[in-house]
Amino acid sequence: MRRTDVRPTGVERTFADHEIIVTKTDMKGVITYANDVFLRLSVFDEDEVIGRPHNIIRHPDMPRAVFKLLWDTLREGREIFAYVVNMASDGAEYWVLAHVTPSRDAAGRIVGYHSSRRRPDRPAIAAVKDLYARLRAEERRHHSAAEGLDASWRMLQDELAARGRTYEEFVFDLTLGAEPPPSAAHNAPHQATPARTGRLNSGPAPSPAGPRNRKPVKVVKNVTSGRHA
Ligand SMILES: Cc1cc2nc3c(=O)[nH]c(=O)nc-3n(C[C@H](O)[C@H](O)[C@H](O)COP(=O)(O)O)c2cc1C
Repeated sequence: MRRTDVRPTGVERTFADHEIIVTKTDMKGVITYANDVFLRLSVFDEDEVIGRPHNIIRHPDMPRAVFKLLWDTLREGREIFAYVVNMASDGAEYWVLAHVTPSRDAAGRIVGYHSSRRRPDRPAIAAVKDLYARLRAEERRHHSAAEGLDASWRMLQDELAARGRTYEEFVFDLTLGAEPPPSAAHNAPHQATPARTGRLNSGPAPSPAGPRNRKPVKVVKNVTSGRHA
């Protein structure tokens, strides 16, 4: 496999507004389907990704705390919207706004997961980059990965609390181009995010129910493993 010794080149790759990057995984995050847009952006052939764990495109700048939130949310049977930077097999990076959902069988049991990703706006990427860089720096400050995750998880909660937002609300604010700055929002009453007509709801990928009808992603105190089973 050409993946193992890949390092980030700093080259950024983008994709068109109308394109959607799609993958599906089993319960452990092993890829079972990848569309052509994913293969093109990630510079892989289909047979190189099917059956491989999704972390083959993990970028070292991605905080472990965000993947913990992703997996915790999915395992609770809920969908999540998240900003993610991925690394292609040639070391290039591409930012996505991912909508990841559990897939269920006829009996309602979770049988895998599905991710649809759109191209984020530049200002949103800049804001997320800043937050993620601080989380990654915190993770790297610790000798053990578990301690690093614990610390960055707390930092994520603190940063969101300072904005008076859940991660989900933070994401939606950014898609609307309205990131609230960290403030004395700890004491402020929760403000419902205004009607969301931004890119998340344009096109066929995201939830037909729309973000306003979904339960907010709760960031909880205890730290469990950020890794998939
Ligand atoms: C449906 C689905 C899609 C995923 N998409 C990505 C992705 O695009 N990029 C990524 O780095 N991780 C993605 N993940 C998360 C990975 O499974 C993994 O948790 C992450 O890359 C961190 O890997 P690590 O635990 O080895 O650090 C996805 C997981 C699921 C279930």
